Amino acid sequence: MIKSSEIDKIQEDMADALDDKRFMHTLGVAYTAAALAMRYEIDMNTAYVTGLLHDCAKCISDKKKLSICKKNHIPVSETEQQNPSLLHAKVGAFLAEDKYDIADKSIIDAIAYHTTGRPNMSDLEQIIYIADYIEPGRNKAPNLDEIRHMAFIDKEQALIKILEDSLFYLNDSNQEVDLITQQTYEYYKNK
Ligand SMILES: [Fe+2]
Ligand SMILES: [Fe+2]
Repeated sequence: MIKSSEIDKIQEDMADALDDKRFMHTLGVAYTAAALAMRYEIDMNTAYVTGLLHDCAKCISDKKKLSICKKNHIPVSETEQQNPSLLHAKVGAFLAEDKYDIADKSIIDAIAYHTTGRPNMSDLEQIIYIADYIEPGRNKAPNLDEIRHMAFIDKEQALIKILEDSLFYLNDSNQEVDLITQQTYEYYKNK
């Protein structure tokens, strides 16, 4: 169980670690994750803290992210080497444990998989993935009204729609699609 004093501390740490825009997004994800936790009956404070921490490595320079990986034996793929911003989820999961003293493995995993997703995600992982996409500050993705509505009715349907739209966007803009995102989509689509 996370105490409210610990939550306050993490929130203050994030205000320091992130720029204003990213901090606002972070609060949006934390509150949206808490609301989804109420709906899906998982621990609200756990969801809130995971939301607070999910982008904790986002404002760290690429050079620093790579050096954190090297120093701590975190594997870096060829794609990540070329585009180190992709590493913010992995590095964020490491920092959540190492720097922000999170012992709950389910929180660490939800941070680690918040950009790619993975097949058979836990409720918390799904909630963070969805909250990151639908928090009130987001306004660019297509079908947001529909996905926001669906998120509170059937989260796996919302997840499928987000994955579908993300894969379409990545393909359409000729960006590399993480294999695990494709696998996640197929897993939920065929479930
Ligand atoms: Fe992120
Ligand atoms: Fe995010």
